[in-house]
Amino acid sequence: SIERTLVLVKPDGVVRKLSGEILARVEAKGYTLAELKKVTATREQLQAHYAEHEGKPFYEPLVEFMLSGPVVAAIFEGHRVIEGFRALAGTTDPTTAAPGTIRGDFGRDWGLKVQQNLVHGSDSVESAEREIGIWFA
Ligand code: CMP
Repeated sequence: SIERTLVLVKPDGVVRKLSGEILARVEAKGYTLAELKKVTATREQLQAHYAEHEGKPFYEPLVEFMLSGPVVAAIFEGHRVIEGFRALAGTTDPTTAAPGTIRGDFGRDWGLKVQQNLVHGSDSVESAEREIGIWFA
């Protein structure tokens, strides 16, 4: 069935001028861009977005990183877009993400406390609807 997913190009992707390339890959796979904007997140938005990671060692560095510059937020639509985008993004750790994926082609470990891994994609229909509410209220 047709799903929606929240895609974020994180600050590292924006700084490195990869936003267009990343969005182009999602469109080229055939998904529909439904909403798009460039925004600087607030701490409150990030606390809501990353609530499940609160208390983990990478939580504070992650929030600080996400506050370090603007992000590009998009809603993409299509059949199985949640799974489809996660396949395009590759695994969380960009060092070992498969070549051909966004993280595998453009990312690596920069020796910091957080994985700067270029993109976020919702992991389920429930998270997608929750996250879309946070970024496109
Ligand atoms: P994201 O898909 O946005 O969800 C949580 C984020 O936390 C993840 O991408 C990474 O940026 C970061 N992250 C997850 N696991 C780790 C880890 N073990 N060490 C550092 N950062 C992590």
